[in-house]
Amino acid sequence: MGKFDAVLRHFEAILEQQAERVERLKDEGDFVDYSKLDRIVIGVVGGDGIGPMITGEAERILKVLLHDEIAAGKIEIRDIEGLTIENRVAHNQPIPDDVLAELKQCDVILKGPTTTPQKGDPWPNIESANVAMRKALDLFANVRPVKVPEQGIDWTFFRENTEGEYALGSQGVNATDDLAFDFKVITTQGAERIARAAFDFARKNGKTRVTAVTKANVIKTTDGKFLECCRKVAAEYPEITFDEWYIDIMTAKLVDEKRRRDFQVVVLPNLYGDIITDEAAEFQGGVGTAGSSNLGKRYAMFEAIHGSAPRMVKEGRAQYADLSSVIRAAAMLLAHIGYGAQADKLTRALEICGQTERKLVMTGRSDGATGREFGDYILETIAKM
Ligand code: IPM
Ligand code: MG
Repeated sequence: MGKFDAVLRHFEAILEQQAERVERLKDEGDFVDYSKLDRIVIGVVGGDGIGPMITGEAERILKVLLHDEIAAGKIEIRDIEGLTIENRVAHNQPIPDDVLAELKQCDVILKGPTTTPQKGDPWPNIESANVAMRKALDLFANVRPVKVPEQGIDWTFFRENTEGEYALGSQGVNATDDLAFDFKVITTQGAERIARAAFDFARKNGKTRVTAVTKANVIKTTDGKFLECCRKVAAEYPEITFDEWYIDIMTAKLVDEKRRRDFQVVVLPNLYGDIITDEAAEFQGGVGTAGSSNLGKRYAMFEAIHGSAPRMVKEGRAQYADLSSVIRAAAMLLAHIGYGAQADKLTRALEICGQTERKLVMTGRSDGATGREFGDYILETIAKM
C-alpha cells in the first residue's frame, strides 16, 4: 500500500462528489416566480443564543405587515424548531434530517444566528448550520447591501455562497502529522450563476458598474476560473462597466473615502466575500445593522450577518440585543417574495427608529431599550405610516 493511499482515496471521493454536483448544476432550472405560487410558506428559525428573541420580534412584525395575506391564506408563517446547538449535537448533524425536511417544505426562511462550534468549545466540531443550510438548499447568492447615504456609500455585495474554501471546509485532510490540506472549489456553473445574479441585479436596479474581486494573480486556477466566468458574463451586459480588483487592494480601498463611493455592485468568491462584508458593514454601524439574503433558484434564506452572541446570554443581556440586523433581513425577505410596499415600510421604520428619530436606543445593555420595546417602537412607527 502506498504511503498516501488513504489521502488519495479521500481526494477521489471529493472529486466524484463535486463532479456530480457540476452535473446537477447543469440541469438546474430558473428562479421561482413567487407570484405564481398559491401560497408562500415563510419558515422562521430561532437558532441559538440571542436568536429566538430577535427573530421572535421580527416574526411579530411580519405578522402585522402581512396580516391580510395570512388571513387570506396566501402566506403562512411557520415556526421551525430544532436548529439549536443542543439538538444539532444530539443528532451529530449540522442540520438534523427532520429539521431539513421541514425547511424544504418552506419557500423562504428567516433565520436567527446559530452557534458554530470551534476548537476548544464543549461541543463536537460539527459543521456550521449556516454553511450546511446554504449547501443543502443550494443558496448560492449571498447578497449583502451596505448603505451609508451621508458618505455616498451604496454597495451591494454578491458573495458566492456554496463554493470556494467553504465547499469542503470540513473535509480537509491531514496527510501526515505535519502536513495539512484544505481544498478550494470553483466551478464554471457556480461562478457564472453568481456573476449573472450580480449583473442582473445591476441591470434591474439602474447600477452602472460591477466589480469582480479575486486574488487571481496568485490563486490562479480557482480564482482564475472565477474571473474568467465574470468576464464572459460581463460581455452579455455591455451597458454595465466591469472592472477587476484584487482582494488586498479592494480591502484597502474600502477605507479610502474618495474612492470607495464609486463601487456599486461587487461579485466575489465565498471567503473574500465573508471577510469584506464584515468590513463593509462596519461603516454602516457594525454587523448588528446588516441583513443578508441567501438566494437559490428554489429556496431563499434571510438572516442577520452576526453570530448568536453567547456572551450576552451568559451575562443575562440577551433581551437587550440589537435586532436591527434581523429586521433588515425580514425586509429583504418581503421584497424578495414580491411584497415591496411592506418591505419599504419596514425599511423606513427601521431608519426612523434607528437613525433619525431614535426615541429608543439599543445599546446591548440595560441602559438601552429591550428588543421587545424596540419591536413595539417599530410597530408604532409603522402604524403611523
Ligand atoms: C457569515 C458568517 C458565517 C460564514 C459563519 C457563521 C460560518 O461569518 O455569514 O458571514 O463564514 O459564512
Ligand atoms: Mg462572516
